[in-house]
Amino acid sequence: MHIAVIAETSDLETRVAATPETVKKLIAQGASFTVETGAGTASGIPNAEFAAAGATIAKNAKEALKGATVVLKVRRPSTAEIKLIPKGSIVLAIMDPYDHADALAAMAEAGLSTFAMELMPRITRAQVMDVLSSQANLAGYRAVIDASSEYGRGMPMMMTAAGTVPAAKVFVMGAGVAGLQAIATARRLGAIVTATDVRPAAKEQVASLGAKFVAVEDEEFKQAETATGYAKPMSAEYQAKQSTLVASHIAKQDIVITTALIPGRPAPKLVSDEMVKSMRPGSVIVDLAVERGGNVALSKPGETVLTENGVKILGPLNLPGRIAASASALYAKNLFSFLETMIDKNTKALAVNWDDELVKATNLTRDGAITHPGFQPKA
Ligand code: NAI
Repeated sequence: MHIAVIAETSDLETRVAATPETVKKLIAQGASFTVETGAGTASGIPNAEFAAAGATIAKNAKEALKGATVVLKVRRPSTAEIKLIPKGSIVLAIMDPYDHADALAAMAEAGLSTFAMELMPRITRAQVMDVLSSQANLAGYRAVIDASSEYGRGMPMMMTAAGTVPAAKVFVMGAGVAGLQAIATARRLGAIVTATDVRPAAKEQVASLGAKFVAVEDEEFKQAETATGYAKPMSAEYQAKQSTLVASHIAKQDIVITTALIPGRPAPKLVSDEMVKSMRPGSVIVDLAVERGGNVALSKPGETVLTENGVKILGPLNLPGRIAASASALYAKNLFSFLETMIDKNTKALAVNWDDELVKATNLTRDGAITHPGFQPKA
């Protein structure tokens, strides 16, 4: 088992798919390890630390991938990288498989066994491999940090001789993994926090973090959670009621963090142009859903929009990458935990159980074909 880690080539990517800790653990399980020079730099891991953990440092991706049987990446391999990865290799990454049929076909054609970490089932056994949770949690944290640095006022209430600085009012829309961490972070900074979601289970979680829950709690709300814990798309009637409630609430907020998503669909539009206009100058909105179409009408991917009435709308791409050292540490641990299930403890060799539910749920391509039922080429 020879594992390769190469430097991510996307301009947006600062994370790395292994850390000295996971390198050491995998070497202990019988692997040899090669890391491309500089792969960890943006995550604060110098070559020397990878070398001290037992990895060989390669001068480029081509050298690093020579003889690899396993490749660990953050993002799906590019066309150029696919050409360098040996046929039959196992590749673990966040594959972003939706609407990327050509990329999937190219990986299949190259004979790679690819796994999309974001398709990992959210069951107890796989919690330690759940990249969506590990990264969304950090994104929620970082969204509040970024919002507070853009906000021209203080977050906590401060009573001073020269007067009182009021606490900032923070509204978090979508109280899943990212939203709950955003609530917790804003509370730690001393803000007055409210939050909304369409899933009833979120109500108690929001309250347990010391924030107030604001939502239309009708019959539809009571049925809004799927068996797998995700939100359902809501009816036009519900959305209209939600919009009326949100409109009057948002006008009084200083910072709005939106994180609302529905799996496999464009993000629901929750903050309209008029709502933004109702906010005070200096208010800040962070749209975490911007990569999936955005929760905020005016947000733009990768940009900060300053509206005419002085509201800043941040549309950050790859927020986990803005807290790269922590994000890499957790991501690398997710990959390690999954890869470990593919290693035979006695022979210390790769032994993938293709019938394992985690393998079946995440495997995209194998033996020249797209194997995942959800991504079969259209006839
Ligand atoms: P997500 O990223 O798909 O969505 C984020 C949030 O947006 C969700 O809470 C969703 O209900 C909310 N949302 C969707 N439409 C909305 C709308 N119109 N208005 C307001 N909010 C809206 O979800 P995420 O964060 O990945 O987690 C979803 C659930 O899965 C949570 O209950 C979480 O606790 C659970 N979960 C369970 C795990 C496990 O059992 N191993 C691991 C991780 C999460």
